[in-house]
This record gives sequence, C-alpha cells and structure tokens, in this order.
Amino acid sequence: MKNIEALRPGRNDPCWCGSGRKYKVCHAQIDERIERMRELGHEVPARSMLKTPEQIEKIRASCKVNIAVLDYIEAHIHEGMTTGEIDRIVRQKTAEMGGIPAPLDYEGYPYSVCTSVNDQVCHGFPSDDVVLQSGDIVNVDCSTILDGYFSDSSRMFCIGEVSPEKRKLVEVTRECVMRGLEQVRPWGFMGDMGQAVSDCAKENGYSVVREIGGHGVGLQFHEDPWVSYVTKRGTEMLLVPGMIFTIEPMVNMGRPDVCYLEDNDWEVYTEDGSPSAQWEIMVLVTQTGHEVLCW
Ligand code: MF3
Ligand code: CO
Repeated sequence: MKNIEALRPGRNDPCWCGSGRKYKVCHAQIDERIERMRELGHEVPARSMLKTPEQIEKIRASCKVNIAVLDYIEAHIHEGMTTGEIDRIVRQKTAEMGGIPAPLDYEGYPYSVCTSVNDQVCHGFPSDDVVLQSGDIVNVDCSTILDGYFSDSSRMFCIGEVSPEKRKLVEVTRECVMRGLEQVRPWGFMGDMGQAVSDCAKENGYSVVREIGGHGVGLQFHEDPWVSYVTKRGTEMLLVPGMIFTIEPMVNMGRPDVCYLEDNDWEVYTEDGSPSAQWEIMVLVTQTGHEVLCW
C-alpha cells in the first residue's frame, strides 16, 4: 500500500477531503493515527475508502431512495404474491424516485432485486413461478444507484403463519446485526464487529456463512474492504471515520456450508437445506461512533 505520508497536504493547505478546512485541523490527526497503526502492523484503510463530506451527502440521498423502496415492499408484501412482482415493484419505485436498481446487469445479474426464500441464502432470482406461501421467510435485498452513488440494504419478511423456529432465526439474525453494529467505532477493528455477529449466532445454536460477506459501498456497489462475520476481535481492518460498509451476515439454522445453483451460478442455498436469514444495513464510521445510513 502507498505510504499515506506521500499523499498528505501541507498543514495549512486545504484538507484533501474537500471540507474547506485547513488540513491541520481536519484530517491531519486522523492520517497520523492511521500511519501509526499501519506501522504497528495493522491493516488500515486506503484513503479512497474514507468518504468525504460531499460524498457522504450523495450516498445519504441514495440511501433514502433504497429505504423508501424497502418501506414500500414492507407495506405491500403478502402471501400469494410472486417474487417476480417484487422485482417489478422495485424497478418501478426506484425509477419513480430517479434511481437505478444497482443489481440489474451487475456482473450479469438479470434482475433489479434479490429475493431469497427459506433455504436460499442470498442472490435469489425473483420469479413469477415463486409464489410466497404462508410459513415462508424471505429476504428482499435492494440496492440503488442515485446520481452515481450506491446504497445497499436488505430486510427479512415473515409471510403468514411462520413457525416459531424460523421466526426466531429471523429475529436472532437481526440481533446479530445490532450486536455487530454496537462494535463499530473509530479506531476499533472490523473483527470486533465480526466476532460480535458470530458470537450472537453461536449463542443461539446457529452458524454464519463464511464464503460470502459484506463490503465497502458508496462510490461503487462493492468496494474494499471485504467484510467477514466470522472474524476475531482485534483483527482485520482498522475502522476510521469516513468508512462506509455493510453489515449483512447470512445466518443458517443448520450448518454454515452453502452451494451455488449450477443453472446460473448466482443463487446460493444452504447445503443441508436448513433455513437461512439475512439482514443488511449500511454503516458510516463517524468521529464518535457510527451512523446507520441504510436499513
Ligand atoms: N445486494 C447484494 C449485496 O448485499 C448484492 C448482490 S449482487 C447482485 O451485496 F448482483 F446480485 F445484486
Ligand atoms: Co451488500
């Protein structure tokens, strides 16, 4: 990685973040602290991972659209509806608000949203053949591009009469995200968050998917760092104000192993057929802690 020293403005020059403030009263101390941590051997974020105030505002606007789309789905999802309908609603609502669904054509993904039902772990293809039945649990994963800026979040929905076991999986998975979120603070580590997530899943007898994780987000759909939820406290990337990433663990009722559907190489299922749940939020590391940008 490039030595950040080489990228530092003079102390009285304007800060690189575009705040308009002098470097010495803006990012100078943050850059110095990152540099010290790098010298101590920690993995530290590249400057490109630290969003500027202007970028954060644009990302926030994108998040507003994403939240509104998911709110609309939440109000209208029902037993008997197909996931194909959800796809059309997401496409239309996003467009009405001036956005573009980020999944559409992303690395060949053919739909505007991911809808993952029961033992589907993630990246489920919406389909007119998939009718939501009483007892189903479904993840709706929405992502928006607004004015070139990206947002990404997902929620679980319980359709009709859901068994207590599956309902608990959905609730605990949400708790996993919240427990992870509590750990997000500047100068902590990504692994603090990861361990909190996996501890919560384990306490409840569940497992966390290892192969698929979260990501930085904002200027691109998927940015560095890659985010795991099976990591240990005090390890992984240093958390620094301005970082934006997702907390989106996939929690399985049974074994953690997953498999890709051979037909399309996108849709992911639990190998043992056990139900899987996921919630996804987008979080900004602030000077004092964190802020949830999207849910
Ligand atoms: N929204 C998913 C995520 O959380 C993105 C999956 S890629 C897609 O990262 F192409 F399937 F949308
Ligand atoms: Co994501």
